[in-house]
Amino acid sequence: MPEDEEFNVTPWSVTGKVDYTKLMEKFGTQPIDLSLTSRIQEITGSEPHFMLRRGIFFTHRDLGWLLDQYASGNPFYLYTGRGPSDHTHIGHLVPWIFTRWLQEKFHVKLIFQLTDDEKFLFNDNLDLEKTHSLALDNALDIISLGFSEKDTEILIDSDNASILYPNALKIAKKITLSTVRASFGFEMDANIGMAFYTSIQAVPAVLESIRLGHNIPCLIPYGIDQDPHFRIARDVLPKLGYLKPASIMSIFIPPLSGVEGKMSSSDPNYAIFVTDSENTVRKKINKYAFSGGKTSVEEHKKFGGDPDIDVSYQWLRIMFEPDDTKLKKIREDYISGSLLSGELKAILIERVNKFLKRHQELREKAKDRLHLYLTSSHK
Ligand code: TRP
Repeated sequence: MPEDEEFNVTPWSVTGKVDYTKLMEKFGTQPIDLSLTSRIQEITGSEPHFMLRRGIFFTHRDLGWLLDQYASGNPFYLYTGRGPSDHTHIGHLVPWIFTRWLQEKFHVKLIFQLTDDEKFLFNDNLDLEKTHSLALDNALDIISLGFSEKDTEILIDSDNASILYPNALKIAKKITLSTVRASFGFEMDANIGMAFYTSIQAVPAVLESIRLGHNIPCLIPYGIDQDPHFRIARDVLPKLGYLKPASIMSIFIPPLSGVEGKMSSSDPNYAIFVTDSENTVRKKINKYAFSGGKTSVEEHKKFGGDPDIDVSYQWLRIMFEPDDTKLKKIREDYISGSLLSGELKAILIERVNKFLKRHQELREKAKDRLHLYLTSSHK
């Protein structure tokens, strides 16, 4: 991490306590203000999703423009993705749950890219067969969230070279080595596939325009760490006659160890995987979830806890307690000291296990329907 900064965000790692206001300035993105959320409410006729109300999705590019287009009869499509390096953990689900909501409210198509090529190129320990089989595995989690079968296309990169490659070539020709080096910080020992990869991630942002033969707006929801890819895409795509994709970005769900960094498969004790058992969830949260409570019950009752540094509270806020009134009560009780750390953890454990039980059942059922979502069956 550079010495003068207390946090650092790249597509591969997030360290320190992220100051999202500073990050927005650094990346040059716009805040999501009340006028935008009201606009969404007006257009969809629904209360904005809790992730919007609470600033979990907190920043954007060209969202106002995209909504204007939509309102005047020019709809958009959605594009998001996942690099299959392991089983899905709950941090991955945050943007997907929100994307699902957008699809439902705006009645639009989604292209979901699974980048087995990316994870192969960027990870010394994974071979392509492994990342491909993980792509198929991760696809089950996407389907389990309830994405519409008709309007959702799951595109696994290595299975769809004929779609991706000609378009990635055109994009790659407009990107210099010096741009990717400045954007991603590659050193001279980086393999050459890594430099090419960003052009593959740009293709789904214009794929519907290519297929339709005319430009259609695209909205990309993603965790803010992916921003360097889409800054490049926005710069290059207009040079090829396409629209700049609009975007809406989220904060990260913290690992159990504390509100710094982001949840990552490389610290499995501090992440909850969708495949974890009830028992594992209970143990991980009880043992590792960083608490904003005081060290003794007496002290806690007297002085209260700090929800802002308490991982259990943060997980409820970000993902597991959609009801604002209930969340507010938990927050107030924790601050006043009447809700103890162990009790807060118990609330979270119950929520996570309830979610996972259903998710794991749906995941089993998704196996039979997987083929219906894959790009090959959509065309
Ligand atoms: N690079 C992303 C990852 O490592 C995967 C990805 C591909 C993606 N296309 C995307 C993420 C579009 C968000 C939006 O997880």
